[in-house]
Amino acid sequence: MQVKDRTFLITGAASGLGSATAERLVAAGASVVLCDLNDSVNAHAERLGKCAKACMADITSAEQMQRAVDEAVAFGGESGLSGVVHCAGVVSVAKLVDRDGNAADLEGYARTIKINLVGTFNVMRLAAAAMTRNTPNESGERGVIINTASVAAFDGQIGQCAYSASKAGVVGMSLPAARELSRHAIRVMAIAPGVFETPMMSEIPDEAAKALAAAVPFPKRLGKPDEFAQLAEQIITNPMLNGEVIRLDGGIRMQ
Ligand SMILES: NC(=O)c1ccc[n+]([C@@H]2O[C@H](COP(=O)([O-])OP(=O)(O)OC[C@H]3O[C@@H](n4cnc5c(N)ncnc54)[C@H](O)[C@@H]3O)[C@@H](O)[C@H]2O)c1
Repeated sequence: MQVKDRTFLITGAASGLGSATAERLVAAGASVVLCDLNDSVNAHAERLGKCAKACMADITSAEQMQRAVDEAVAFGGESGLSGVVHCAGVVSVAKLVDRDGNAADLEGYARTIKINLVGTFNVMRLAAAAMTRNTPNESGERGVIINTASVAAFDGQIGQCAYSASKAGVVGMSLPAARELSRHAIRVMAIAPGVFETPMMSEIPDEAAKALAAAVPFPKRLGKPDEFAQLAEQIITNPMLNGEVIRLDGGIRMQ
């Protein structure tokens, strides 16, 4: 799928990985609809210029996401919506049993699953339905969906039961979704980032961030959001990438 002159919906676009992806795709000549709960997405879209449009929406809401997808289809004009890069998500940390012997909060667990897993399904189903109506491009493609998992799907740490389960669910959906949507010529991929320098990471203490950076075999640092965006762009443009989850992590295996 070409990037230039195509329209992409980017969720979580007010911050971090989604924000960087929007910037890179606009620089490559795409139009983007920036979707986020946070109203700073409006200012970000304005900064990006006339190729960008903001749409405030909660990815867990059927109605709000339908509106975001409809806006992206309309923004795309004749070619409609060519792809979605779904980055919206939350991190959470909670032990099953805390140091005083109290069981973890069930609602906290369900909230993470709802945003990261159910939200991903919601974005994927609505974007896919819209893209099935596209006229295939010269290579027969109708669209591409890129979800964001995490290395925590494979090597979750203590306290990450909810986060790891939500991201493992995103990994688990990739192949069945890609298989199903292949008859519509829509590809489905997921990126599993290691540790990236974004506002989400600022939620963990400095010392822990330093330890994580030191645990990356090479390069010994946190990933830069544009490195995620580079991979998203490559996935969009390379039609052989389908039904796979790519770790983007400098070789880290979390302990
Ligand atoms: N930063 C990392 O190290 C890292 C590592 C692995 C995976 N990830 C994943 O990458 C994705 C992006 O993370 P980031 O680091 O850019 O985080 P971030 O906090 O910088 O950005 C996430 C964005 O998602 C938005 N969001 C949250 N819930 C939403 C909802 N219900 N509806 C709409 N928008 C919502 C937030 O407002 C925020 O702007 C997340 O799914 C995260 O789990 C990040």
